[in-house]
Amino acid sequence: MKRKKTLSLAATLSALALVLAGCSSGGGAGGTTLRLALNQTKEHPSFVALDNFGNRLSKATSGRWDIEVYPNETLGAQQEAIQLVSDGTVDMAIVSGTQLANLNKDFRVFNLPQVFDSIEHQMNVVNNPDIVGDLYSSLEDQNLTVLGGFTQGARSLYTSKGPITKPADLAGMKIRVQESDIHTKMIELMGGSATPMAYGEVYTALQSGVLDGAENNEVSYVSQKHHEVAKHYSYTNHLIGVDYLIMNTDRLAEMSAEDRAAFDREWQVAIQEHTELWKTATEEAIAEAKADGAQFHEVNTEAFSKALQPLIDESLTTDTARRLYEAAQSAAP
Ligand code: GCU
Repeated sequence: MKRKKTLSLAATLSALALVLAGCSSGGGAGGTTLRLALNQTKEHPSFVALDNFGNRLSKATSGRWDIEVYPNETLGAQQEAIQLVSDGTVDMAIVSGTQLANLNKDFRVFNLPQVFDSIEHQMNVVNNPDIVGDLYSSLEDQNLTVLGGFTQGARSLYTSKGPITKPADLAGMKIRVQESDIHTKMIELMGGSATPMAYGEVYTALQSGVLDGAENNEVSYVSQKHHEVAKHYSYTNHLIGVDYLIMNTDRLAEMSAEDRAAFDREWQVAIQEHTELWKTATEEAIAEAKADGAQFHEVNTEAFSKALQPLIDESLTTDTARRLYEAAQSAAP
């Protein structure tokens, strides 16, 4: 059986020190290599699309700018990665919307249940500057610029115990959530008990029985090997999550206008490539999970949407949040 490697905090920090000592972001034949923190494997669509983005950027800027993607939380889990990008130790990171909502509550809107009907709908909203322009520059006082988003696909529940077809089935179950108040509340409304935890720790927690389950898309379910230890995936499809590309604002400002234009153009290509790769990766993940003995179950989605409605109502508390929510609704196809 494959075992996922987990690092203690001390080991993570010494690995980080080694990695950073080995590459100067100002160096390399006169160009700058941007270090990007990612918590996914090298096979994940986000790694592939970002790695290709770096190659195209380097070509388009004649080597003045390049990107090195560090997968598997090598530079830290998402909460640490945000701090490292903010203080400039790391240049860029992919972080879940739940993490940015901890810095500015208005980011909650795009990580709520039932906001997006489809990935296409979501991409049209989270990458539309008319809708998200102010939101994405709202963290610049912390030296963080949000550049746009990749889809996380639809997230569903999975457990080691059995199918979850209605909220009552989750009673007494410990379900991992991202480090987010709103997702803690979400699992409670869905009937379970929430345990916030970093992504890279979930496999061991499922395996040892500290957790009964978690929630994620099929690609993460399989690339993180969770399907080996939690064999029942139940299609609650409770939300379509978003991953943001964030960058240190000062570092971004170092680009010439011409290089920045190339950067923006190639980033848009990366978003399209990611969306394409996502479809295939999802199908492949389902096939792999089934071949390994995991089971996929349909659920009473109406019962879950009803249970989750209060979360939407109580999250739309500011004018900005309501405006973003309405803009998302009106962009529905
Ligand atoms: C998805 C998402 C990640 C997130 C993870 C999680 O894989 O793409 O950004 O960190 O879920 O549940 O923590």
